[in-house]
Amino acid sequence: MLTAPDPESHVYDKPPAHANADWTIDQNWSAYSAEEHATWDTLFARQREMLPGRAAQAFLDGVDILHLSKPGIPDFGELNQILMDATGWQVVAVPGLVPDDVFFEHLANRRFVSGNFIRRPDQLDYLQEPDIFHDVFGHVPMLADQRFADYMEAYGRGGLRALKFGTLKQLARLYWYTVEFGLIQEPEGLRIYGAGIVSSFGESVFALDSDSPNRIMFDLERVLRTEYRIDDFQQNYFVIPSLDELLRVTVETDFKPVYEKIAEMPDIAIADIVKGDVVLTRGTQQHPSAQSDK
Ligand code: PHE
Ligand code: FE
Repeated sequence: MLTAPDPESHVYDKPPAHANADWTIDQNWSAYSAEEHATWDTLFARQREMLPGRAAQAFLDGVDILHLSKPGIPDFGELNQILMDATGWQVVAVPGLVPDDVFFEHLANRRFVSGNFIRRPDQLDYLQEPDIFHDVFGHVPMLADQRFADYMEAYGRGGLRALKFGTLKQLARLYWYTVEFGLIQEPEGLRIYGAGIVSSFGESVFALDSDSPNRIMFDLERVLRTEYRIDDFQQNYFVIPSLDELLRVTVETDFKPVYEKIAEMPDIAIADIVKGDVVLTRGTQQHPSAQSDK
């Protein structure tokens, strides 16, 4: 039975004995218990109900392409056959959090790292570290989209550069506000595509329906300067006009001069609205823990 170990034990400075040199491990799919498969099914069923009219078209398409409605925890072997054909990406299992350079190296080679454990039945709503439901249901559908697939590979290469420049803190904000908590404008209205939103029962509603958070049009420099919170729903979401545009602006921009420019500028506090922002919704910031921030 694979259960989530103590978070501390997920922090290693070298690959643990059972892992390969690149930190990957076997998913060991046959070791999941019936209860663990049932946890996946419960989580899947409630998210799937939430997503029509909320999730981005690319995400909904990905769920279909990858047959994620098949009951039980996905077998990476099966999943990868479809994903490889779609965009050349693979999902690989790792024992927990991996070092930044390892993470970026995998992304740059079109490998998405995923924890292989699933949360316990008493942790359906809140989890400190990403489990297989967040990693696979949240992240992998978007990887079946060619534009997002290219973006993630480019991000991996950008991460290796940022490590050299000492600008990981800034680049990580881009990941946070797109890959994890991104919103997108679609003809019918705003939609969610960030993995942290689509895999969350509460935030998949809050991100679109609540009048508490700000919703601001995506601007690369602005995002790289903006702090974020990891302990509650976001106070601020950035909205991309399209996946084509996200890919275009990030790939065409050499970040080096941007990092140099913003090094001279202050960071932007989580819920602040600044000059130049194209604000779609100015939030009330009434959500409970937004208050403590003021
Ligand atoms: N163009 C970025 C750079 O010069 C790399 C990058 C691409 C980063 C896509 C994020 C997303 O570093
Ligand atoms: Fe994630």
